[in-house]
Amino acid sequence: YADPSVEMESTFAMIKPDGVSGNYTRDIKKIISDSGFGIIEEVMVQLDEDTVKNFYAEHSSRSFFPRLVQYMTSGPVLIMVLDKANAVADWRVLIGPTDAETAKVTHPHSIRAMCGLNLQRNCVHGSDSPQSAVREIAFFFKKSSSGFYSKHDEL
Ligand code: TYD
Ligand code: MG
Repeated sequence: YADPSVEMESTFAMIKPDGVSGNYTRDIKKIISDSGFGIIEEVMVQLDEDTVKNFYAEHSSRSFFPRLVQYMTSGPVLIMVLDKANAVADWRVLIGPTDAETAKVTHPHSIRAMCGLNLQRNCVHGSDSPQSAVREIAFFFKKSSSGFYSKHDEL
């Protein structure tokens, strides 16, 4: 049952191309459920260059940006909305540090340690703040009047 004293929060999560192609989707979704998150919506999509450039606009001037765009368009991704109290911060803890090589040393039980390869190919995404979560969920999903999410038609 829903405890009215607990403030629900939504975060945006993504299993990146190497996570999907490496068959980590089932394991990651089990970790998500076992950690108390509800998977409110999930859609498999193939991102195009413009979508990735807009999504990661904050990094557009960085030298790694072209390689990031190439990687993120290299195969389908699973985009999700996850719900839980403190979902944004708790999902960031579960995925671990950005650099999967670091994660394997410092956070060996994190998702990026489990399925990531390095700083670029780190297999999962999570919103870094409540504000980012609002932006990123709205970037990929529309919310109907009944409260259900569905992906934007152009994706
Ligand atoms: P960032 O927002 O810093 O990390 P996070 O995903 O943990 O929020 O960077 C976004 C993505 O860009 C990151 O997941 C992988 C890629 N990236 C690189 O390829 N090289 C880099 O040096 C950095 C910092 C990020
Ligand atoms: Mg980030």
